[in-house]
Amino acid sequence: MKPLAFSILRVLSDNEFHSGPDIARVLGVSRTSVSNALRDVDEVGLTLYKVPGRGYQLLDPVQWLERDTILKHLGTDGARFDLEVLDTVDSTNSLLLRRSAGGMYSDSPGIPVTATELQTSGRGRRGRQWHSGLGDSLIFSLLWRFQHGAGFLSGLSLAVGVAIVRALESCGVEGVALKWPNDVIYNFCKLAGILIELQGDMLGPTVAVVGVGMNLKLSNNVQARIDQGVTDVFQIRGEMPDRNRLLAALFINIVRAMQEFEHKGFNSFRKEWISRHVCESKAVTLQLPDGSEESGTVLGVGTDGSLLLRTRAGIRSFSGGEISLVPEWRV
Ligand code: BTN
Repeated sequence: MKPLAFSILRVLSDNEFHSGPDIARVLGVSRTSVSNALRDVDEVGLTLYKVPGRGYQLLDPVQWLERDTILKHLGTDGARFDLEVLDTVDSTNSLLLRRSAGGMYSDSPGIPVTATELQTSGRGRRGRQWHSGLGDSLIFSLLWRFQHGAGFLSGLSLAVGVAIVRALESCGVEGVALKWPNDVIYNFCKLAGILIELQGDMLGPTVAVVGVGMNLKLSNNVQARIDQGVTDVFQIRGEMPDRNRLLAALFINIVRAMQEFEHKGFNSFRKEWISRHVCESKAVTLQLPDGSEESGTVLGVGTDGSLLLRTRAGIRSFSGGEISLVPEWRV
């Protein structure tokens, strides 16, 4: 979407009708530019009414992310962040990785974090796409420097999962669980995903870009593109959460988790993670990257975040992001 479309959608965010000529006058553009800019809004999950004689109105106005409001919710923690809010970007993870590779953050005093309203090439784990529309999710990436190497960071994505559940609970969203390795789920449907990408040497130091996508209120249009069971906060709570407040809670909880992880490693999160694991002590089937399967009973996770499974061949440990967990039971 072009920058003009974002300006028009901001005008329409008061939930009122606005005529094409009025919008054109306010923004100093032609009427044709207005209608052209609004042509593709359904692709980003918005429903726009166009009523002759009255103009345009959004079915569901966008609740915009506002940098100042997020900083207000962050309180005294706000000074720690180098916070950026973008209308649109290909992928917040890709952006931070590109900038970091170019040395942009090498002497940054604040914690770089970028949130966006719209991601055009969102990436998920295992080469999948991450789909979201405009304003229907929370989409952000945060960059953290560790002195440790990648080996120490193997359980980091599980720790971030714990941080996300803590943040949701602090905003009154209860009943959310985790599924190994780092899916945030509700009723077996995916609520949020975590993609951690590392730059650096095996022995450290390491730059970790922590990307999070959380579904808040997905349109049918966006849901139709997703090939797995999904849910959103709206379905859990029956109302749209305050996006800026929830985002601030996520930042605070993730940064606390990063510090805790830096000093104590995954072991500090292990007990809590297991208590939130939806498949703990259950019979499951693991689909391995080579296409084979392994069945067994979940016996928690190791100190490095690897999944422990009691199989016919004894207790085995599975690590890495290539394994998906398929529960054989549903309640
Ligand atoms: C998963 O597959 O579960 C991980 C999804 C991670 C999506 C987030 S959205 C913000 C950041 N930017 C991306 O391109 N991906 C991550």
